Amino acid sequence: MIDQIHAARERAMAKLAVAVSSDDVRALELEVLGKKGALTDLKAGLGKLATVDEKKAAGQALNEATSEVTAGLQARLGEFRRAERTVQLEAERIDLTEILRSPGRGHAHVVTQAWQRLEDVFIGLGFQVAEGPEVETDWYNFAALNMPANHPARSMHDTFYVEHGAPGSTVLRTHTSPVQIRVMQQVPPPIYMIMPGRVFRNETTDATHLAVFHQIEGLVIDRGITLADLAGTIESFTKAFFGEGFTSRLRPSYFPFTEPSAEFDIRTPSGQWLELGGCGMVHPNVLIAGGLDPEEWSGFAFGFGIDRMAKERHGISDVREMYTNDLRFLEQF
Ligand code: FA5
Repeated sequence: MIDQIHAARERAMAKLAVAVSSDDVRALELEVLGKKGALTDLKAGLGKLATVDEKKAAGQALNEATSEVTAGLQARLGEFRRAERTVQLEAERIDLTEILRSPGRGHAHVVTQAWQRLEDVFIGLGFQVAEGPEVETDWYNFAALNMPANHPARSMHDTFYVEHGAPGSTVLRTHTSPVQIRVMQQVPPPIYMIMPGRVFRNETTDATHLAVFHQIEGLVIDRGITLADLAGTIESFTKAFFGEGFTSRLRPSYFPFTEPSAEFDIRTPSGQWLELGGCGMVHPNVLIAGGLDPEEWSGFAFGFGIDRMAKERHGISDVREMYTNDLRFLEQF
């Protein structure tokens, strides 16, 4: 019996020496000390020994072997666990450092700066940002905005057409308002969204007009939205963007996609009024085109020119100056 105990112990220790993982150690533990383990079996055989002395000697040898093997198993398990943890940590390591290159030589264009500042101000007022495509279908650019074919308001926008699909079906968007429809189709209300982007009109350029310019659209759709919410939002925006010395007013106007409609003007601290863009309560036909029930939802929209805002903010006399790419001009901003 004692020889068998020694042999079992030797075998266990030899196997332990060649184990290569914590799984190997656990398997070995089961093999030696588990229910049907080698040492467990021997322990069960103690009762069959003939004399008390034999039982005592074998019992003692068994205890020693068990403690030796248990200690060995635990030591190796600890080693493997530490090594495996190190490997795991290394594999799951997240590098939170960032290599900052030296600052570039240029800076954002004056219109990009205005665009980014507008986003910052509106995000601060609780809005989210969405964008839409620059090449649009006639439906999104006009029809869904309550301007069906032959509607006279279409002539307010001198449109660039793109040769794609049926003649006249694809345009370079003339305003950012089509993104209103795309947002309504994709985002369930309540909606508090701004949509900045580039727009195109077949216009002769002058000090305040470009053929390629930028607008920022705003759309709010919720329950019980009124004109007072529109006026309040425009006023908060004016103060946040231009400064406390500025105020705003709404002046009655016409857009097919809002009813009532207004122009939005700001007053500079010196008392001068400047027109910034259009706005109004979203027309029920526009809500329907966007897939919303006008009995349940109401809202307001606005859209203004980013280039003209940059022009006013910096006192630039001619919007075309911003696109001549003259560094002596651009480096001032
Ligand atoms: C629109 O484009 C409407 N979509 C605005 C709107 C949106 C009204 C939502 C109601 C609700 P308008 O054509 O007036 O409206 O253009 C809006 C602004 O874009 C103008 O006030 C002006 O700031 C700017 N803008 C218009 N045309 C030009 C241009 N050729 N060059 C530079 N900026 C322009």
